[in-house]
Amino acid sequence: MNYKAFHKLSYGLYIIASEFEGTRSGYIGNTAFQVTSSPPQIAISCHKNNDTHGIILKSGVFSLSVLKKEASTSLIGEFGFMASSEMDKFAKVKTEVHSTGAPVVLDSSLAWFDCRVVQTLDVGSHTLFVGEVAESQLLSDDEPLTYEYYREKYKMLAPRNAPTYIEKDKLTEEPSAKPSAPQPDQTGMASADPDDEEEYICAICGYVYRPDDGDLAAGIPPGTPFSELPEDYRCPICNAGKDYFKPMG
Ligand SMILES: Cc1cc2nc3c(=O)[nH]c(=O)nc-3n(C[C@H](O)[C@H](O)[C@H](O)COP(=O)(O)O)c2cc1C
Repeated sequence: MNYKAFHKLSYGLYIIASEFEGTRSGYIGNTAFQVTSSPPQIAISCHKNNDTHGIILKSGVFSLSVLKKEASTSLIGEFGFMASSEMDKFAKVKTEVHSTGAPVVLDSSLAWFDCRVVQTLDVGSHTLFVGEVAESQLLSDDEPLTYEYYREKYKMLAPRNAPTYIEKDKLTEEPSAKPSAPQPDQTGMASADPDDEEEYICAICGYVYRPDDGDLAAGIPPGTPFSELPEDYRCPICNAGKDYFKPMG
């Protein structure tokens, strides 16, 4: 089996949310697609360990918000890597409630769908929920965020609960893997110390800090070793502090 073939499947990125008896829950999902147009139905694949899984099972409803290309990274970090039972993911985001009662996340969203579950299919680690769309809204014509763009931008693999998760050792060497020879940094100097090139992974969300890339959004130029990051540097995905990063080894 060539697991890299799975990377050729395309997806978007969504916030899927639900509510039951006052408890709100939501997660980032890339597996969502329209199943039929008449009636309009959307399917999602939700991991059984997600808090939202239990809430959807009990409420029988979910909302799906389509994220825009430049969606907030902290929104992705909180909804995609934290458990709803451990934090109020909705505290900082704007939401609305429509036909089904599921919270609809408006921040970083281009469109939303409010769905009632009409079928569930147990597929092992995940449940496939098919929802009939009760209401939908287009908020903007901007570009949606694709899973490929997200992966390229943050150089991340899918987290363990995503149906698209593939264990790292199953992926063979990328054709575009970086060369082993030292690369020139911004000043044109080659980095001589291998420690300066060491990649560090965030233990919370799996984001990898690569010295070759730096972190332009945080003002860190390419060629900056992890040891030279400011002490208040934070993970661009989940906002974890520098202490949470471990050498990739
Ligand atoms: C890019 C990305 C894609 C994801 N796709 C899915 C998915 O399709 N299905 C799923 O069950 N979890 C997926 N996850 C994982 C959940 O978002 C994550 O487990 C979340 O913390 C669950 O939150 P909850 O426990 O509050 O429901 C994805 C996460 C990320 C970052």
